[in-house]
Amino acid sequence: MKIGNINFSGFPLALAPMEDVTDPPFRALCKKMGADIMYTEFISSEGLIRDAQKSIEKLDMDPEERPIGIQIFGHSEESMVQAAEIATLAKPDLIDINFGCPVKKVVTKCAGAGALQDIPNLLRITSAVVKATHLPVTVKTRLGWDDDKKIIVELAEMLQDVGIQALTVHGRTRSQLYKGEADWTLIGRIKENPRMYIPIIGNGDITSGEKALEAKNRYGVDAIMIGRASIGNPWIFREIKQYFSGNTAPLVIDAGERVDICREHLERSVEWKGIPRSMNEMRKHYSSYFKGFQNFKEFKIRLMDCHHPDEIYQLLEEVREYYLDFKFQE
Ligand SMILES: Cc1cc2nc3c(=O)[nH]c(=O)nc-3n(C[C@H](O)[C@H](O)[C@H](O)COP(=O)(O)O)c2cc1C
Repeated sequence: MKIGNINFSGFPLALAPMEDVTDPPFRALCKKMGADIMYTEFISSEGLIRDAQKSIEKLDMDPEERPIGIQIFGHSEESMVQAAEIATLAKPDLIDINFGCPVKKVVTKCAGAGALQDIPNLLRITSAVVKATHLPVTVKTRLGWDDDKKIIVELAEMLQDVGIQALTVHGRTRSQLYKGEADWTLIGRIKENPRMYIPIIGNGDITSGEKALEAKNRYGVDAIMIGRASIGNPWIFREIKQYFSGNTAPLVIDAGERVDICREHLERSVEWKGIPRSMNEMRKHYSSYFKGFQNFKEFKIRLMDCHHPDEIYQLLEEVREYYLDFKFQE
């Protein structure tokens, strides 16, 4: 796959942008585990222009994460152009436009998936962003607004015509939010369109090597993006790559490795955002790292009660010891 001048070898796996999840510490772990391309969390164009601290902080990237895209969202051509200019100065490898966020406060302002209700405006914004930066511009969107308006096959062509260099499609409509199953049929249809030449990245419900391989073979996508399955499970990228290489045995990550990864996540978080914030934000990750571990609840309660990273590190050593011979639940 090639996006602009960025060359990818093999079949690339992308880490999906996820607000409050895919910050630099988490992205670094996913990169180590084999993610080939990643994105910042979505960044409000208005926030960037206002110089809002929360938005500016999200521009932070580490060279080891490359190739990385900055994802921006907004409703107006003017603000998106300015945001693209600001994002370009941060020197990412590409700029990604979010036309997929289904959250009410975003769509009511016609941003995110809200843009799918006004395609001429969506195309105007995209075209203006393409012209505002020398970097490749990509788009991430959904199948359409709702069941009656699954316009992605036509939209893909229009977006290609205004100059985007890759398209990521999450196989749900805005109305579906995250409900039901992702439908990859139309993603496959985009790939069957002989006019399409830009890479198509498929997204939605990939949780294992088996599912990834099926999606790759059945729908002919150029890359696959993984979101929720990476939370507390950044080794999903390694697992999928192992599966692709013919080793279909499940990847077992024992308690010791999980402790190491969880610890590294916290260490990197402390370094990046300081103790109080990382202590707070890491709380949502602990149970994911130890999902399926019998009797973990008690450890979880104690982890939630910690106020300093050193307490967590100590407790993680107890976790390591306790689960030394732990066998996974089927
Ligand atoms: C907590 C969370 C935050 C998300 N934030 C973003 C975001 O900032 N930008 C974006 O394009 N999509 C966002 N998404 C959507 C994901 O990128 C992805 O499209 C979706 O989760 C489907 O993929 P999955 O089934 O692999 O999780 C978010 C999803 C979740 C669960």
